[in-house]
Amino acid sequence: MTSIDEGRRYLAERLADTVAKALEADLASRERVLLVVSGGSTPKPFFSALATKALPWSRIDVTLADERWVADDDADSNARLVRETLLVGPAAEARFHSLTTDDDTPEAGVEAVSARVASLPWPASVVVLGMGGDGHTASLFPDSEQLATALETSEATVAVHAPSVPQARITLSAARLADAHLHVLHMTGEDKRRVLANALGGDDARQLPIRTFLSQPIATYWAP
Ligand code: 6PG
Repeated sequence: MTSIDEGRRYLAERLADTVAKALEADLASRERVLLVVSGGSTPKPFFSALATKALPWSRIDVTLADERWVADDDADSNARLVRETLLVGPAAEARFHSLTTDDDTPEAGVEAVSARVASLPWPASVVVLGMGGDGHTASLFPDSEQLATALETSEATVAVHAPSVPQARITLSAARLADAHLHVLHMTGEDKRRVLANALGGDDARQLPIRTFLSQPIATYWAP
């Protein structure tokens, strides 16, 4: 294992500690709590670390910040990543809520998914976000036609035509993503250093949607 791998694993374990503590704190006063996670390639070691935590998982609802509109067993499916790396061991008891339907397009399924998401026990204890090299977070892409809608709507989810593949996606709206006790930004790699610096620097939310959430507590986890 390289020192980069070790650093990322250490980061993932500390992040899992933080998320477990935030869930435990909310579980002390609520019967059901909500965890929102992101997909992509970064979270895998975090999911593996979190899955081992001794939490009352049957009281924890888990959903995604965004999803690619692909089959459940597709390599690009964020739900597949969650099922294979988080919902294993003790965490298999959690209630997972996917963001897809059998419809051919996210536009056709978005109403049903919004109803599903709206029924979850908000506010979330934690929303874990990632960020792409192009500055997108969840599927809030700086260059997508749907960004203004996703930032302004009171609906729970928005169908998105992303500028990168897979293009058909669905994202939680900014209103849902903002509704959390704690936000976490989890990023790894030198390429993400610049994006992180921009996020904490100056651009407005239209250019870097993550800035929508920066008026709230946000824990930043970055490793090379
Ligand atoms: C997705 C994710 C997305 C992710 C970033 C970072 O489905 O694409 O939820 O928002 O957090 O794209 O992706 P990487 O971890 O692969 O760099």
